[in-house]
Amino acid sequence: MNLKLVTTLTLCYVIYICKSNAIDPCASQPDNSDLNVIPMYGKCSPFNPPKTDSWDNRIINMASKDPARMNYLSTLVAQKTVSSSPIASGQAFNIGNYVVRVKIGTPGQLLFMVLDTSTDEAFVPSSGCTGCSATTFSPNSSTSYLPLDCSVPQCGQVRGLSCPATSSGVCSFNQSYAGSSFSATLVQDSLRLAKDVISNYSFGSINGISGASIPAQGLLGLGRGPLSLLSQSGTIYSGVFSYCLPSFKSSYFSGSLKLGPVGQPKSIRTMPLLRNPHRPSLYYVNFTGISVGRVNVPLPNEHLSFDPSTGSGTIIDSGTVITRFVEPIYNAIRDEFRKQVTGPFSSLGAFDTCFVKTYETLAPAVTLHFTDLDLKLPMENSLIHSSSGSLACLAMAAAPSNVNSVLNVIANYQQQNLRVLFDTVNSKVGIAREVCN
Ligand SMILES: *[C@@H]1O[C@H](CO)[C@@H](O)[C@H](O)[C@H]1NC(C)=O
Ligand SMILES: *[C@@H]1O[C@H](CO)[C@@H](O)[C@H](O)[C@H]1NC(C)=O
Ligand SMILES: *[C@@H]1O[C@H](CO)[C@@H](O)[C@H](O)[C@H]1NC(C)=O
Ligand SMILES: *[C@@H]1O[C@H](CO)[C@@H](O)[C@H](O)[C@H]1NC(C)=O
Repeated sequence: MNLKLVTTLTLCYVIYICKSNAIDPCASQPDNSDLNVIPMYGKCSPFNPPKTDSWDNRIINMASKDPARMNYLSTLVAQKTVSSSPIASGQAFNIGNYVVRVKIGTPGQLLFMVLDTSTDEAFVPSSGCTGCSATTFSPNSSTSYLPLDCSVPQCGQVRGLSCPATSSGVCSFNQSYAGSSFSATLVQDSLRLAKDVISNYSFGSINGISGASIPAQGLLGLGRGPLSLLSQSGTIYSGVFSYCLPSFKSSYFSGSLKLGPVGQPKSIRTMPLLRNPHRPSLYYVNFTGISVGRVNVPLPNEHLSFDPSTGSGTIIDSGTVITRFVEPIYNAIRDEFRKQVTGPFSSLGAFDTCFVKTYETLAPAVTLHFTDLDLKLPMENSLIHSSSGSLACLAMAAAPSNVNSVLNVIANYQQQNLRVLFDTVNSKVGIAREVCN
């Protein structure tokens, strides 16, 4: 028996033992302080796509929707006036990549909601909704449900609200986004996240949808405006949360969302979190440069700097798939990367720098520089392979040029297997390597 066979057999044996003893990895986890995070199309996700679709094809497909999201994010930051209703319009949630399990109501009703750090509020499809999927929240089955009246302050925080001139009535509103729209009413109920219960949580209860791009079981906003989870949970979480997004290849509930200061990494490198009063929901950081291998790429400073009046700068976002830089920045990075890798180069979906995988060992590491923090991307976060496995591509792209784009977005693919900590009270963002596959 040769060594390879022994290894294989041992491995099978270990896997067999593990399988027979382990609980079903897709089964509900016991309640604890962490919330599991899974890729939208992971094996345990209710949104699992057809098995024939390889994970890399899915990413290429998902990344093709980034321009719509970038477009949306750009419209947000283009607002010139200080917004009195600092609420995302809901347009952000046409693209969702990671989902968490939450319970709403009393007794709790299970929903798999999309996580979105660039949106404040939560939206949940409710029973009786026209155009929603089969899984909805049933207000009638909850003893803690309460529709909100037009006169409550929260109603004024939702854009596009419409109240009868006579001042009373339910708080109802319509929102539209990328080809779809929905109508909703603002309601309250308790929201259960792992073992924590947030009573009287205000969210949009969706009554009707037209279009196909709303997350089937709702959206959980993790922005930092007034209707956000952080604001509504008051002192429970002290304005702190972190997540670890598992690899897109990962199937199970392995990533985690940690809410509150307890259990966060003790030593984690941090950088300042910037605040743009025009777009208070977005998490801006000071991106100062990039290295490709050992080369610190010269970048045009005007496309790097944070400017609250124009909205320009760099955000960390959980809803965009691949990192997008404004075109002059992306071009500079790409040109340096190409210099160091053997061509010829071809395109694949959003990626314009694909090369024969054999040359992958030549691919330089990409390091993002921020104030006080350098993030050297693991190779799995900077390269993507074609589904045939013959090509490797630089997994970044230019922001779509059809929008007045001033925003750089550090996206999911570049955040895999990192813990990203947001401390909105002390205005810090921390990043540490953590394998959460
Ligand atoms: C909820 O209950 C109310 C009052 O009994 C009823 O009018 C309504 O149709 C119910 N809604 C659904 C979706 O079952
Ligand atoms: C929402 O749109 C529907 C259909 O166009 C309309 O009937 C309704 O009055 C609108 N509601 C609000 C609150 O604007
Ligand atoms: C939630 O709202 C209900 C009904 O308005 C109220 O009785 C209760 O005190 C509130 N609970 C909390 C924790 O604010
Ligand atoms: C961002 O970093 C640059 C370079 O260190 C610095 O000049 C600039 O003041 C920083 N901007 C903010 C908003 O901290």
